[in-house]
Amino acid sequence: MTNLSRRRFLKTGGTAAAAGAAMLGTGLAVAGEQPANLGATTLPYPRTGIAKVGALKVNEPKAFSYPDDDSFCQIIKTGRAVPGGVGPAGDIVAYSTQCTHMGCPLNYDKEARTFKCGCHFSIFDPEMQGQMVDGQATENLPRILLEHDENDDMLYAVAVEGLIYGRQCNVI
Ligand code: FES
Repeated sequence: MTNLSRRRFLKTGGTAAAAGAAMLGTGLAVAGEQPANLGATTLPYPRTGIAKVGALKVNEPKAFSYPDDDSFCQIIKTGRAVPGGVGPAGDIVAYSTQCTHMGCPLNYDKEARTFKCGCHFSIFDPEMQGQMVDGQATENLPRILLEHDENDDMLYAVAVEGLIYGRQCNVI
């Protein structure tokens, strides 16, 4: 086999043949079934109902936990469309409320419309995707990704963008 044909073999048929042999060797290639994702290193996020859109009031945060009881979050209806906002007006966002600096709990300042940390005074903007705007923190707030089910008006938390403070992975 010349260098050229060997290269072509590896790029095309060789790869598929090797993958097929590996599947048969593990016993995963059962007709009509998807092989289990044994190589996954992260657990899937739960889909958790948080609140009905109609029950949220503008600039009044509502606390919840996601993806588990030890991870504190808040959902806010900002009253104006914002980046990453969901719901009919694109104005609903949610974040982890553990400071990304050292994990202190954040408080929502209704007047400034920001999350503030009382430990070392970091400030985060929920209308700008949790951007860190001042203080000791160097990371934005982890954003809770939401889906709105128009059938029952429910908002569901479905994933987290960014690492929750103190964790090596968000789902533990
Ligand atoms: S823990 Fe929030 S700024 Fe330090």
